[in-house]
Amino acid sequence: MSNTAILEINGEKHEFPLIVGTENEIGIDIKTLRGVTGGVTTIDPGYKNTGSCESAITFLNGEEGVLRYRGYAIEDLAEKADFLEVAYLLIFGNLPTQEQLDKFHADIKKESVVDDDIKKILDAFPKTAHPMGVLASLTSALTAFNPSSVNVDSEDDMYNAIVKILGKFPVLVAWTMRKKQGLPLNYGSEDLGYVENILKMMFEKPNKPYEQNDILINALDKLLILHADHEQNCSTSTVRIVGSSHAGLFASLSAGISALWGPLHGGANQAVLEMLEGIKEDGGDTKKYMAKAKDKEDPFRLMGFGHRVYKNFDPRAKIIKKAADEVLGDLGVEDPVLDIAKGLAEEALSDDYFVKRKLYPNVDFYSGIIYRAMGIPVEMFTVMFALGRLPGWIAQWREMRLRKEPIGRPRQIYIGENHREFKSINER
Ligand code: ACO
Repeated sequence: MSNTAILEINGEKHEFPLIVGTENEIGIDIKTLRGVTGGVTTIDPGYKNTGSCESAITFLNGEEGVLRYRGYAIEDLAEKADFLEVAYLLIFGNLPTQEQLDKFHADIKKESVVDDDIKKILDAFPKTAHPMGVLASLTSALTAFNPSSVNVDSEDDMYNAIVKILGKFPVLVAWTMRKKQGLPLNYGSEDLGYVENILKMMFEKPNKPYEQNDILINALDKLLILHADHEQNCSTSTVRIVGSSHAGLFASLSAGISALWGPLHGGANQAVLEMLEGIKEDGGDTKKYMAKAKDKEDPFRLMGFGHRVYKNFDPRAKIIKKAADEVLGDLGVEDPVLDIAKGLAEEALSDDYFVKRKLYPNVDFYSGIIYRAMGIPVEMFTVMFALGRLPGWIAQWREMRLRKEPIGRPRQIYIGENHREFKSINER
């Protein structure tokens, strides 16, 4: 195979090197394009064909439905690892030894309190505020309380910022939910595991001791692992691009949370459940909604279907569908919404429109059903996604910093007015 690509513009040929990844993906390295062509640029709205970086964190093959973190299959990690091990793996590159994991957990626990003044900021939000907006603001506010988190030239400060956010983020998540529910703000316990603590902080009632439920711990562990990274998606690219300006970790994460909020990205899990409930209230006629989804005059889309990269199946959806059946079975929950979901999935998988466009259920088609069975309010679903994605965002931000990537600054093709003479206001 030749290791260059040739581009001919106006009769002039230019050669560009090919970059080959460890899984034999090929990229054309166009770093010199503008220089050698006198300013020619590429246009790729939505970046469907553009690689923004070289990364050693997550590999996915959308055609074959493969997802691996640092070389490990998502199926193995979801079954055999816990969320904190996966977080360590993503951020530092290898599965931790017991000693490394214990130290990591101990460092995180030391940071699992937030400045009490954060409560004043939380208090200023109306109860009706969407939790994602509140979480983005509080995460950004953490910078003010932890100024050293901005110094990314020191590996120690970077490590401290990482364990700080892993410790404090679950507290902010729990408080965001508790504030909406009018519950007192609480803390976790040093004796509990990372995921156990999240559940304790979210669900503990002020008038009785909190009892752990292993089914919920396992379900949440799995959900968080499945969401932990997904290479250069919208929110991750946002974290990397904000971080590339040398903004600190918390500011970069706050931007990522805002990007995740949208219904075409992380907000899809909330949108899926609202859609399924809407179908149920409308009599449960899935065929009617299938027809709406296919009608180009109708803006309705089947939420939870389709993916920018997976054009065969979403491997996370397979794992999560099984988990949804198990969790609902174990908890003894019978949910008519799950039946509607299964009906829609079956119809879509044998429908020409969906088959031709390679639209399959994605991870968020089923995650909301589990969250609902766990007692998590619908508005918190995207927050739960953020909680899972946190180690991925951190890993990608750290990689970008360690590789000393340049500031992200795309180009454009200008299509506006040519030069115009200025007219004073009474001449217009
Ligand atoms: N329902 C109906 N039709 C759809 C759907 C859908 N969910 N998704 C895509 N299509 C159709 C489009 O109308 C288009 O049809 P056309 O070729 O006749 O014009 C074709 O399939 C391709 O769709 P695009 O929007 O071009 O695909 P893209 O890769 O840009 O979008 C996306 C992917 C945003 C995920 C899209 O499938 C979608 O909107 N899905 C619903 C929202 C959702 O579930 N998002 C979660 C993504 S997963 C995540 O973030 C964790």
